[in-house]
Amino acid sequence: MSNFSSVNSLPSGDYAEVGVFQGDGAKEISEWMNPDCRLWLVDSFQGHREPSEFDNSGAHPKGRYSDTSPEIVRAKVPKAIIVKGYVPEVLASLYGCQFRYVRIDMDHYIPIKAASEFFKIRMVPGGIIEFDDYNCPDCPGANKAVDEVFGASNILGPVPHWINR
Ligand SMILES: C[S@@+](CC[C@H](N)C(=O)[O-])C[C@H]1O[C@@H](n2cnc3c(N)ncnc32)[C@H](O)[C@@H]1O
Repeated sequence: MSNFSSVNSLPSGDYAEVGVFQGDGAKEISEWMNPDCRLWLVDSFQGHREPSEFDNSGAHPKGRYSDTSPEIVRAKVPKAIIVKGYVPEVLASLYGCQFRYVRIDMDHYIPIKAASEFFKIRMVPGGIIEFDDYNCPDCPGANKAVDEVFGASNILGPVPHWINR
């Protein structure tokens, strides 16, 4: 997690974290973001689905991170819009929105790829997508998903991210 507060000066766009767990990362975002903007927090609140063939099923099995709830997150980030459900299906709740900053942190190939495709076309110019799991040894599906959608040469560091130039 890094501080991407440069996006605060963009003229428009919401903020989002997809893969929230107990809301600690979301709380960090809420502390540097423009407080007048919306922060969407998307999670199954039931943990991971079945891993795909591209994931590390030992490190990230079905049901990991189920020890949370919207209430736990709301206590830390009271003003956020909490969306409960599985990616990709639940992303329909965000149709019509545009974003200046999105953090994707779901560990598994299928939801990371779906979220990457969804948000790539919904970022305002200059908007940033951060990929928490990119280059993480326990999350091989993350690099595969992100590289398929954005191309590896377009992922910047040291905190992995893509800018909608
Ligand atoms: C590593 S945790 C997120 C940690 C959080 N970003 C933080 O900074 O504390 C991964 C989260 O992704 C969620 N997740 C995994 N697959 C999902 C899916 N298909 N749809 C929605 N949430 C999912 C899990 O429920 C879990 O809360």
